[in-house]
Amino acid sequence: MKILVTYDMFREGFTELQERYDVTFPDARDFSYEEVYEMIPEYDVLCSMFDFPVQRELIDHAKRLRLVANYAVGYNNIDVAYCLSKNIMVTNTPDQVTVPTANLALALLLDVARRVSECDRKLRYLGRSMKVGVLENLGVNVEGKTLGIIGMGRIGRALAKRAVACGMTVLYTNRHRLDESVERSIPATFVADKDELLATADFVSLNAPLTPETRHIIGARELALMKPSAILINTARGPLIDERALVAALREGQILGAGLDMFEFGDHPLPELTKLDNVVMTPHIGTQTLDVRVAMAKAVSDNVIGFLEGDRPITPVPRP
Ligand code: GLV
Repeated sequence: MKILVTYDMFREGFTELQERYDVTFPDARDFSYEEVYEMIPEYDVLCSMFDFPVQRELIDHAKRLRLVANYAVGYNNIDVAYCLSKNIMVTNTPDQVTVPTANLALALLLDVARRVSECDRKLRYLGRSMKVGVLENLGVNVEGKTLGIIGMGRIGRALAKRAVACGMTVLYTNRHRLDESVERSIPATFVADKDELLATADFVSLNAPLTPETRHIIGARELALMKPSAILINTARGPLIDERALVAALREGQILGAGLDMFEFGDHPLPELTKLDNVVMTPHIGTQTLDVRVAMAKAVSDNVIGFLEGDRPITPVPRP
């Protein structure tokens, strides 16, 4: 069995896999798509990163491939239906990403609400000309406010619990309503109509996967429905938001602010966003801690070993 890992990663999580199989890693960089395309006919398993495209061209070239083990909960980089039609299983790493991503979503919300990064930036770059004083740099409370969550999977639920702990009330919308007992345990209230959630919530967090249905789930129309005091958080996937429409909404004060961990056009935001004080941005660091990096690698390794040997549970992604 030959296993190809497309990305550079701490090896701790892959120890068991390396002991059992012939595993190829790139050396201190990621393999390019062209390199993977060249090598793939020799391999039985592909371990891909969330931004590595596993589409028809590559799949058709992968004569021996039986498993694509993605390093992420999201798998919008993979043509899952096509993989399954070729008898290739696809797995992801849902459990390890939940808490760190929910923590980052909360951190972004608190940061925008209390203007933490903005104040930090002004202290550094304006120095003594920064206006300070008890009536300057006023933020907004999160306590007593309503958080609307779009996408109530594991991360959405973990964020909801954190929001409740901070004194917020939680509304959510999701493809399927949660069991009432789960709703009660958070607690969170289902809103069937996304527009109603957008119009009611003080803050909105996107926690849905990227699919054709969720692309631009927030565009000019949706931003116009939101309150002028609203804060929008995105730790899911960049293209959920029409970023040009968001720039316009933030500039015109149509909403109060945004916290973004992902961007529509690749790894970087539109340059206009970097000029705005009411947006806090991070470069897709939702799961970026040493411990989580290693835990996700271990989850990938467990998926591969469990798939090949059936000795442990694995996490296949659902059929689309
Ligand atoms: C990260 O973006 C993930 O999908 O886990």
